[in-house]
Amino acid sequence: MDIYADYLVIGSGIAGLSFALEAAKTGTVAIVTKDSKIEGSTNYAQGGIASVLDFDDKFEYHIKDTLESGSGLCHEDVVRMVIMDGPKRIKELIDLGVNFSQDTDDGQKLDLGREGGHSKRRIVHTQDRTGHEVEKVLLERVEANKNIRIYEYHMVIDLITTSKLVKQGIIASKSNKTCWGAYLLDIKENRVVSFLGKVTVLATGGTGKVYLYTSNPDIATGDGVAIGYRAGVKVANMEFMQFHPTCLYHPEAKNFLISEAVRGEGGILIDKKGRPFMHKYHPLKDLAFRDIVARSIDIELKKSGEECVYLDITHKPADFIKNRFPHIYETCLQFHIDITKDPIPVVPAAHYMCGGLLTDSDGLTNIKNLYAIGEVACTGLHGANRLASNSLLEGLVFAKRAAQKAALYLKNKKDMELRNVPEWDIGSATDSEEMVVVSHNWDEIRRLMWNYVGIVRTNKRLERAKRRIENIQDEIKEYYWNFIVTKDLLELRNIALVSELIITCASLRKESRGLHYNLDYPERDDTHWKRDTVIWI
Ligand code: FAD
Ligand code: SIN
Repeated sequence: MDIYADYLVIGSGIAGLSFALEAAKTGTVAIVTKDSKIEGSTNYAQGGIASVLDFDDKFEYHIKDTLESGSGLCHEDVVRMVIMDGPKRIKELIDLGVNFSQDTDDGQKLDLGREGGHSKRRIVHTQDRTGHEVEKVLLERVEANKNIRIYEYHMVIDLITTSKLVKQGIIASKSNKTCWGAYLLDIKENRVVSFLGKVTVLATGGTGKVYLYTSNPDIATGDGVAIGYRAGVKVANMEFMQFHPTCLYHPEAKNFLISEAVRGEGGILIDKKGRPFMHKYHPLKDLAFRDIVARSIDIELKKSGEECVYLDITHKPADFIKNRFPHIYETCLQFHIDITKDPIPVVPAAHYMCGGLLTDSDGLTNIKNLYAIGEVACTGLHGANRLASNSLLEGLVFAKRAAQKAALYLKNKKDMELRNVPEWDIGSATDSEEMVVVSHNWDEIRRLMWNYVGIVRTNKRLERAKRRIENIQDEIKEYYWNFIVTKDLLELRNIALVSELIITCASLRKESRGLHYNLDYPERDDTHWKRDTVIWI
């Protein structure tokens, strides 16, 4: 055993850091994170956090908007709980030192933005870099806490669960599956280490890198879903990958988002000839739910044969645009697009995984001592299509609840300790000199997911994708057992498994709903499919 803590937290985004701060009140916390501590989707979040903070707004309105966006699959009890906890969690962030933008007319009030599907202005934000501000403050607080230690460049390979220990003869019974910690690749030292925790928390974020085009940072390879699934955690609703309608379309821009808040402030989607088109698809036009806007753009692009549409905010005063969206303004300018004068070329890209590891309303999975919080989890909040800016909110609310629940559990289990786990068996591994095959497989998976399992699906495309993923997985298996593990190989194994899970869930659902649109079943079918798609080993 290398490291021991009461709480092992995997991931340093909003969910992992918020959990750590609460958990540190009752025990020691080890946070492991596979890149530098700031890297993760949280750091790139733009629009903000949705919450009921204005006299003109009501919990019931936010609840209604969330349920409508989720197309019949949200769990209403969870929606209510999260939305009603929202204002308390925002206040805690402010108390920690998060500096949200203030209303310019009334300096005492928060400035509230608007995004697609919201019937009111309710998005608290820090200009257009909300995630960076929140992440920075949470990290400062975590680093100042004596009970918490962060291990950067430590990547979890797999969890240590009862079945692994039974296999090694360390414990006898297979019943009551429990998590004891995880094996990690220490990326800098190139060795495998084990971290034990009385409680383990997966807070590993999203899966956008499974697709060729994504708004997500490089860490978003779905590791938590893959790791959890391999350990026996139930996985749900993986067919609901959310495509954000407006990512910057430019050959040199890797994955830059143009926030929905731009449409919230009056931005309009237009085609190459300057014609608005969203009125043809939904009464809410440019502020319709995200699945509808992304699909409408897809239809426009297929009809016109063009490579992108445009987002036009040039009718707003230049000073307003520069003050409200300084990061987007500066970034676009680097690509010679002046958003105060030019419409922004945009395309949809994979953005957010609504499915994930199935949890209860405290973030607990079906494995004892194992929690999943943040984007990696499927809590019932988002249903078939997440409402904009409800993700950071979910991360905050579930981190708090999970930490409080885990603390209660530990209080009654003071003697619970396991210090004897088997070393990681590296088998007959040799150095891989064929890294080119790994990168080729990476590319093939992302391309086939984009082409066959994207915004619009068919049975035939899903079947083709399934066959190809199976072949790639056979190759990866051979690699995995024959060669020393590297970060790239581990991530490849994870994106292949996550792709398989997305394809499986998409093939099971014989209807179209929310983000899952299949031309062979174009209608929503509440009689048979008003339920989650749940799979496990
Ligand atoms: P992340 O912040 O992604 O953190 C995941 C952590 O896990 C990282 O530290 C990563 O290194 C670590 N990790 C992953 N795998 C491993 C492993 N195997 N071993 C060890 N560590 C691992 N949502 C909103 O509500 N409002 C917004 O305005 C908004 N804007 C967005 C803009 C962009 C560009 C993107 C990409 C997303 C946006 N979202 C937004 C979604 C939201 O940001 C994410 O869903 C949320 O930040 C996820 O937080 P998290 O803590 O679950 O994961
Ligand atoms: C955005 O700023 O458009 C992202 C908001 C979100 O994903 O919730």
